[in-house]
Amino acid sequence: QTESNLSVTVVGASGDLAKKKIFPALFALFYEDCLPRNFVIFGYARTKMTDEELRETISRTLTCRIDKRENCGDKMEEFLQRCFYHSGQYNSEENFAELDSKLKHKEDGKLSNRLFYLSIPPNIFVDSVRCASGKASSKTGWTRVIVEKPFGRDSESSAELTRSLKKYLAEDQIFRIDHYLGKELVENLSVLRFSNLVFEPLWSRNYIRNVQFIFSEDFGTEGRGGYFDNYGIIRDIMQNHLLQILALFAMETPVSLDAEDIRNEKVKVLKSMRRLKLEDVVIGQYKGGKSYLGYTEDPTVPNDSLTPTFAAAALFIDNARWDGVPFLMKAGKALNTRRAEIRVQFRHVPGNLYKKNFGMDMDKATNELVLRVQPDEAIYLKINNKVPGLGMRLDRSDLNLLYSMRYPKEIPDAYERLLLDAIEGERRLFIRSDELDAAWSIFTPLLKELETKKIAPELYPYGSRGPVGAHYLAAKYNVRWGDVT
Ligand code: BG6
Repeated sequence: QTESNLSVTVVGASGDLAKKKIFPALFALFYEDCLPRNFVIFGYARTKMTDEELRETISRTLTCRIDKRENCGDKMEEFLQRCFYHSGQYNSEENFAELDSKLKHKEDGKLSNRLFYLSIPPNIFVDSVRCASGKASSKTGWTRVIVEKPFGRDSESSAELTRSLKKYLAEDQIFRIDHYLGKELVENLSVLRFSNLVFEPLWSRNYIRNVQFIFSEDFGTEGRGGYFDNYGIIRDIMQNHLLQILALFAMETPVSLDAEDIRNEKVKVLKSMRRLKLEDVVIGQYKGGKSYLGYTEDPTVPNDSLTPTFAAAALFIDNARWDGVPFLMKAGKALNTRRAEIRVQFRHVPGNLYKKNFGMDMDKATNELVLRVQPDEAIYLKINNKVPGLGMRLDRSDLNLLYSMRYPKEIPDAYERLLLDAIEGERRLFIRSDELDAAWSIFTPLLKELETKKIAPELYPYGSRGPVGAHYLAAKYNVRWGDVT
């Protein structure tokens, strides 16, 4: 704990993200004694509310870690007493100036750092940044702003957003958050690769046949159709969450663990990637059934919408390490399960001595390393093993590291790690503007083509495994999706 003051202002405090993720994460940090002794939290939004009403709303979503329930009630009360509310318009300099006075009053003339978390729709990003930086930035310490995606809809709008933000903020004040980078298993990806001799030398086209990044949710866009329909699954999940994981997965060894060194390597991967083509993508949209509404039956979605709620894509990195290796992505809503995982399928052992003892397809007998990001975090390696007994029959088994068994302590939410990093000025897990540009370059031509040609998505039933087209796409590259075999 340091002696300087810290204020965290959650702009858009009455929204869902703030209630479900940001306030609970701040409470968890407070509970773990990770926040400075002198800290306050301000909620800022248009809704009229008193401090007490904000506290009442927040208190409904705060929870204590299972392993730390003692004193939890007292800690919660202490935390809530540090939460305040200011009601204002997002584009009003005057309202932000009022916030500034309230902050100053709490800061009491001491060195003060201010963090703003913009949890608001993209059309008001720039206005709020202008007002917050102009009227409510810290005069004695740092001012940082966390921004949430969407960072534009394509290369041009993203570049325009970056330009506008940079009128008011320096790049090192902007923390573009991608909450997947704060997930435990994603953080662990580099540890697994770079600190284990059994993996590091294998991490290339010489030994890896393909890599799969899979995201699925077992619910639709219920209630979020208005936002989602303007973006679709490619912009919502692939261009950011899955692509960020891919870049971490595929980067060369960074010079150090310093944020700039890591992000330099990620940018190189993104710049070496081929722009996605229509023939390397399958899109889908869920339809309803007896008990579920289809995507276009959602009242907030136009009933002729072609927005994909599912997509599968084959991507390629044209560099020496990954030449020819398909990196497959699959993301979808309203599927049969909720899961996020990374699957690495290795090549066959050349001239496998035991071919005839498998009694199964050799394709299924390759090693596969799986990082299950959620739920039930795990890392497992599929190996070939002798079935115990007098005969010689081979079987596929798992070496399994199940986090709930090995590390029974509750895993912090991604937002806790990322908020703490922003407070500490650690930029490693935030997206730099050149990374963002490179990421959009890969997807923008495809997104435009899908939209101008009005490509119809393949319909799939709510709760299914998604369109069969995804299997044909994988088969084109001699790949099977690891999650369905
Ligand atoms: C968000 C997307 O970024 O991530 C949502 O906008 C999605 O559509 C969410 O549901 C998934 O996050 P998590 O952490 O619940 O897997």
